[in-house]
Amino acid sequence: MAIVAPSFLAANFLQLQSAVDLVNQSAAEWLHIDVMDGMFVPNISFGMPVLQALRSATSKVCDVHLMIEQPERYINDFKQAGADVITVHIEASRHLHRTLQQIKSVGCKAGVAINPHTPVNSIQEVLHLADLVLVMSVNPGFGGQKFITESIQKVAQLHQLRQTYQYTYLIEVDGGVTLENAPLLTQAGCDVLVAGSSIFNATDPTFVIDNMHAL
Ligand code: DX5
Ligand code: ZN
Repeated sequence: MAIVAPSFLAANFLQLQSAVDLVNQSAAEWLHIDVMDGMFVPNISFGMPVLQALRSATSKVCDVHLMIEQPERYINDFKQAGADVITVHIEASRHLHRTLQQIKSVGCKAGVAINPHTPVNSIQEVLHLADLVLVMSVNPGFGGQKFITESIQKVAQLHQLRQTYQYTYLIEVDGGVTLENAPLLTQAGCDVLVAGSSIFNATDPTFVIDNMHAL
């Protein structure tokens, strides 16, 4: 069974309540919340107040993906706003080892994300600290982009490393995930499927969630 994490970036922001209701009533265990600062990525999305509102409306796992420069500045704020998992990018955090420890010290699960150009071996020295590794399968910043196929190989590599060294991180994939490529990802070892457009733009979002969850 895969963990499904619908990405609220693709939700209708005038109808956030119904987007949360949909997820609350579905088999999706997590909500994926994309925070963008207009610096690390070209886009600006939302921040703590929106997370706080979502938190008050759900008991699902709030999976916060920080696409911001120097994320260490905001770990405490996102914890306070209700994050369960906080993921930072290696490309945005100069002292990544310390940042992951900081996330754990506030009581959240610590995730590390790698962009499509970043090799798995660049995070080798922090894998023992990570509760989650996020493989970006598009360049971060926007929903609705095309899945980068090479990401599957990164998932397999992380899965192999996890077995060899008995690491405990979950492997998450984010960007362009659909019902077509999701089986390839779970077969390669992916545990958490993030999906925005393929869920919220579907005529039957619950059908998509159920079928991803069943993988
Ligand atoms: C992209 C975000 C993703 C995005 C995924 O920068 O990190 O979480 O919302 O959206 P889709 O599934 O539409 O690619
Ligand atoms: Zn994301």
